[in-house]
Amino acid sequence: MILRRVHPAGAAEEVALDTESPGARDRLLEWYAPGDGERIRLNFVATLDGRVTGEDGTSGSLTAGADRMILGVIREHADVILVGARTVRAESYRLPRRTPLAIVTTSGDLTGHGFEPREGAPEVLVIAPETATDAVRRSLSGIRSTILPLPDRGEAATALEILGALRAHGAERIVCEGGPGLAGLLLAAGLVDEVCLTTVPRLGGSGIRLLADDDPAISRWAPRQLLLDDEGVQYARWTRRAG
Ligand SMILES: NC(=O)c1ccc[n+]([C@@H]2O[C@H](COP(=O)([O-])OP(=O)(O)OC[C@H]3O[C@@H](n4cnc5c(N)ncnc54)[C@H](OP(=O)(O)O)[C@@H]3O)[C@@H](O)[C@H]2O)c1
Repeated sequence: MILRRVHPAGAAEEVALDTESPGARDRLLEWYAPGDGERIRLNFVATLDGRVTGEDGTSGSLTAGADRMILGVIREHADVILVGARTVRAESYRLPRRTPLAIVTTSGDLTGHGFEPREGAPEVLVIAPETATDAVRRSLSGIRSTILPLPDRGEAATALEILGALRAHGAERIVCEGGPGLAGLLLAAGLVDEVCLTTVPRLGGSGIRLLADDDPAISRWAPRQLLLDDEGVQYARWTRRAG
């Protein structure tokens, strides 16, 4: 698979990358290095019309080209991967290989996850109110986990409370892999530094849209990098525009 770095422009030998070549992953790690002071990234895959799930109701069926490789590289730049509980339930989410996974939930119900106990796997962090403790323990039986407490208010936590729980645990660099609800919450709070978006060349389907529909405020983003592969899959980095 040949990936071309369309933006920023550079010399020919710097902008084409054979993902099978030795050193390809290291080059991608450079291409995806966060800027100074940047801490919070979103990473999504979507269709041209912004749908985030394919025919089987998961994002797995949208993934194409070098998406898994880039996902791994973005994960490697993070202290923790953050996801909403519905994504874990809907996608039978699996344990990442190296980077710890953090799940935010009010209910504590993580039934349907695809975690398998694995020697040396980082423990799963669950950001949840105390009322959810029993449900979390039931759903994650056999999986090493720690609960990072949220206030017990009987309502959804704020974005700052969620990130605060992670920071108190020592995690500063966070990649949120969705879903749209959780990503929208972080965006609306103005806390996202970068959006990494893989666009697969498909239209239509039944999946929900990239961001929840509740009239999001307009925010402006600048292209930082655009990769294009020989199957027409686009991998973009968008950075928050000042002002
Ligand atoms: N294309 C992609 O890249 C991609 C990526 C991820 C997901 N997806 C798709 O997106 C869909 C799921 O997205 P979604 O937006 O519906 O759900 P989501 O954001 O994954 O999860 C929502 C759930 O997370 C918990 N949560 C979220 N915000 C919270 C807060 N502020 N305080 C406490 N708990 C909170 C709640 O869990 P409880 O219900 O347990 O209380 C809530 O129901 C799935 O279809 C999945 O396949 C696609």
